Amino acid sequence: MRETKQSAGLALAIVLLATSLPAAPEPTPTPVGPMKILEYFDNDSLPPGPRPDGAIYTFVDSADPSVSLLSRYGSKVIEDIGGKLVNETTKELATKETRQVVSELHLKGMELPKQVIGRPKVTAVKRTSLMLRDPRNAPDGADMAALKRIRAQLIAGDAPDKVIVQKIEMPGKPLEWRVYRPIAASKSCLACHGDPAKFSPGVKEALDRLYPEDKAVDYSAQDWRGIIRVTLEPLPETK
Ligand code: HEC
Repeated sequence: MRETKQSAGLALAIVLLATSLPAAPEPTPTPVGPMKILEYFDNDSLPPGPRPDGAIYTFVDSADPSVSLLSRYGSKVIEDIGGKLVNETTKELATKETRQVVSELHLKGMELPKQVIGRPKVTAVKRTSLMLRDPRNAPDGADMAALKRIRAQLIAGDAPDKVIVQKIEMPGKPLEWRVYRPIAASKSCLACHGDPAKFSPGVKEALDRLYPEDKAVDYSAQDWRGIIRVTLEPLPETK
């Protein structure tokens, strides 16, 4: 059985969480082989373009000078958060039984990054995925558009965007800017997101109890796990 078991996810050629890996040259994109099609959770029936609520989600080239500060700063904030997530996971796993750690992850009580003068203000941080553990992390329509974009890139065998910048227009609301980065599962993540048959004692039970609708399992190392997103308020001149 083991040999035929397919990975739940899509290999993420470009790894976000460099902190979890020894310093190495950037991995060359690996071809994406046959794969299980991921399951969607919500919003999948929404048509592209303007949404029923009138919202329009547009991806803006992250290299465009008008969004470069937003893109670079958002990207850095996400990298910090990704680093924290990995460090916390590593530390918790090293000091406690995995089954105890289940109720403690991830980044509970994390505060929004403090505003830095001359930098966009971070107004929201989110982690989401096409295979969710906690339904409270469910993607909204704009998150879903970003998830689908990365998914399509991986399925096509292309290197996924390292950074996605998105503009959201909604009638009667100020323009919203988001930055997304894909996040990969590393080996340590598999203790709770890998093959449940290989979990250490009590982990499956703890997950079943806390997350009865858990879909975030059966990942392999380097699979694309999801995205980290920040919402940013640009500086006045970049508006
Ligand atoms: C000890 C168990 C455990 C380990 C190890 C673990 N996770 Fe999680 N993960 C969870 C739990 C519990 C949740 C749901 C609560 C939450 O959102 O933080 C979760 C949720 C997530 C989410 C949010 C999306 C969702 O499915 O709800 C992401 C992204 C994620 N994990 C990534 C990772 C990554 C990357 C690693 C490895 C660095 C990792 N996890 C390791 C237990 C774990």
